[in-house]
Amino acid sequence: MPFAHITGWGMYVPEPILTNDDISKLVDTNDEWIRERTGIRERHIARETDFPSTMGVEAAIRALKVANLAPTELDLIICTASSPEYIFPATACIIQDQIGATKAGAFDLQAACTGFIFAANMGAQAIRSGSVKNVLIVGTEVLSRFVNWKDRNTCILFGDGAGAFVLQASDQPGGVVSAVMHSDGSGANSLIIPAGGAHHPATEATLREASHFIQMDGKEVFRFATRVMGRAVTEALEKLNMTTDDIQWIVPHQANYRIIEAAARFLKMPLDKFVINVERYGNTSTASIPIATIEAIQKGQIKPKDKIAFVGFGGGLTWGAMIVEWTGPLPAKKHVHPEQYRLFARLRSFVRRAIRFIEGLLSRKEV
Ligand code: ACO
Repeated sequence: MPFAHITGWGMYVPEPILTNDDISKLVDTNDEWIRERTGIRERHIARETDFPSTMGVEAAIRALKVANLAPTELDLIICTASSPEYIFPATACIIQDQIGATKAGAFDLQAACTGFIFAANMGAQAIRSGSVKNVLIVGTEVLSRFVNWKDRNTCILFGDGAGAFVLQASDQPGGVVSAVMHSDGSGANSLIIPAGGAHHPATEATLREASHFIQMDGKEVFRFATRVMGRAVTEALEKLNMTTDDIQWIVPHQANYRIIEAAARFLKMPLDKFVINVERYGNTSTASIPIATIEAIQKGQIKPKDKIAFVGFGGGLTWGAMIVEWTGPLPAKKHVHPEQYRLFARLRSFVRRAIRFIEGLLSRKEV
């Protein structure tokens, strides 16, 4: 049975930064309150020209570059945006088209902030089954367009950004070695965008009530998160007969510094074993785990052979953890330039649309 290794990683954040002081001009809050209660100082916010797809494409290309893998070699793309481009089609399909992943199947997986762990586990299982070899996982978020900038309970928390991992099959042991996934839909209302779906389709009333934005019972989500994070890590480790002594790093979902502190207390682990960057990005939902991982790699913290626990929680409610033996790029035969496929992808996309248009005209004549 092949092993599923993480062989590439890439991130992208839009340049504009929104500080706590900036937010204090929008709602009744202040820098001190936000820092004390959440650990967040600032977050990146998408420009008008940034979309989940465009940011996801940047992160994906960077991940493919690290993996030294051509987009045309991808078999599967799973995108996990909590703030997707559309209800449908899947953001994954737009990314597939724009990077030129000509043979990949692409779909979105919705598990809110836990999405990246669920998707990476599903990608790893597809590799373990032998049905695919190369998988791209993308977490990409423009949450700033789903935040009610008049609601101080939520608008202080979220930021925009994208992160991607490439998973590849190898006979060498390692990679994603254990994972647990959990859900509790009885808590669906704790963290929800109530309108815009089939339950409350868009109407003038839903717009007036601002119910197309994120609504959250902060205290409830806080209690839930502190309860489940440590347990999920322990459960994923127990599947391998391992304990926290066997892992070098924990990369948690970056939602709130105090939630991470609570997880550290539960696991009786020092905080310096946790990768934390919530201070500079806020909660980027499904992008938070890859962004934190990549920064830790860049700082020289995460190294090949390290054992790492990834742990997340979010709307659904959902939560999960994944244990990974870190590898890095597989030995490559030749050097590839994934970014060069973008021009070809644009051309291919244009030609395919043109062909569909001409086919449409011809079939109209036939009718
Ligand atoms: N600035 C100033 N005061 C505020 C603010 C603010 N931004 N927000 C709330 N307050 C006030 C409240 O009104 C309350 O005042 P009161 O005591 O007079 O009623 C007081 O501050 C305390 O409010 P709490 O809600 O008790 O504050 P708490 O310490 O719980 O922190 C927070 C709130 C930061 C939202 C916290 O509950 C939290 O982080 N929850 C988890 C949220 C989360 O992680 N969500 C993402 C999940 S992942 C996903 O799927 C998207």
